[in-house]
Amino acid sequence: MTLDKQIDLTKLPKHIAIIMDGNGRWAKKRKLPRTIGHTNGVKTVKRIVELARKFNIQVLTLYAFSTENWQRPKDEVSAIMTLLKAYLKSELSNMIKNEISFRVIGDISKMSTAIQEELKTAIDKTKNLKGLVLNIALNYGARQEILMACKKLIDEGIKNPTEQDFADSLYTKGLPDPDLLIRTSGENRISNFLLWQIAYTELYITNVLWPDFKEEDFCKAIIDYQSRDRRFGGI
Ligand code: IPE
Ligand code: IPE
Ligand code: MG
Repeated sequence: MTLDKQIDLTKLPKHIAIIMDGNGRWAKKRKLPRTIGHTNGVKTVKRIVELARKFNIQVLTLYAFSTENWQRPKDEVSAIMTLLKAYLKSELSNMIKNEISFRVIGDISKMSTAIQEELKTAIDKTKNLKGLVLNIALNYGARQEILMACKKLIDEGIKNPTEQDFADSLYTKGLPDPDLLIRTSGENRISNFLLWQIAYTELYITNVLWPDFKEEDFCKAIIDYQSRDRRFGGI
């Protein structure tokens, strides 16, 4: 591994968001059920969390389940939920050991009570940890989030909200906007992810399928990001 040597440690993205796509296609290529693709996707999650920690990234946001993903066959949805539960059970001690602060964005009230309990435990037990913020997007949809923020502002009687008031009403309150958004498996779309927060985010799309996404792919994304000239509308 020499790619990581090309990374400029003084110019790291603070916040990396990832649309983890391609589990189904990875399985299909191997004539395996889609759920095996998701199982292998979880292995990539563990690898990338470890790498984000190694590079001292402040925030890693992973899109795991969208508000639209409920349309999938029941068996697939329940396999994803089972994997999520297993992930939380097996990783909690690791998170505590590695100072990872676990958070969720999305409307978890629609998830099973068992999963809500696991999520709340993980959030609670890691809330004061000062290392990587690991933000998982679950039953997350940016349009739902924006509507939620509008309703919140109305409820609070804020008639003339500023951008800051609005940002503070989103699930991502207090977090910096993503600097880099990675999407695996080659789809050139956002799929209802972080619409407000990615206004000036650098996009990186790779054809690599999520279960195949390795350290060198992560490094390539960061190196590419570091070659960009972020102008934010200036010159
Ligand atoms: C991403 O992989 C995981 C989830 C959306 C839960 P997909 O399951 O979307 O994989 P493809 O896009 O069908 O290959
Ligand atoms: C986006 O992937 C959602 C997640 C990665 C959780 P999808 O596979 O659901 O997106 P589309 O359907 O290709 O837009
Ligand atoms: Mg997909």
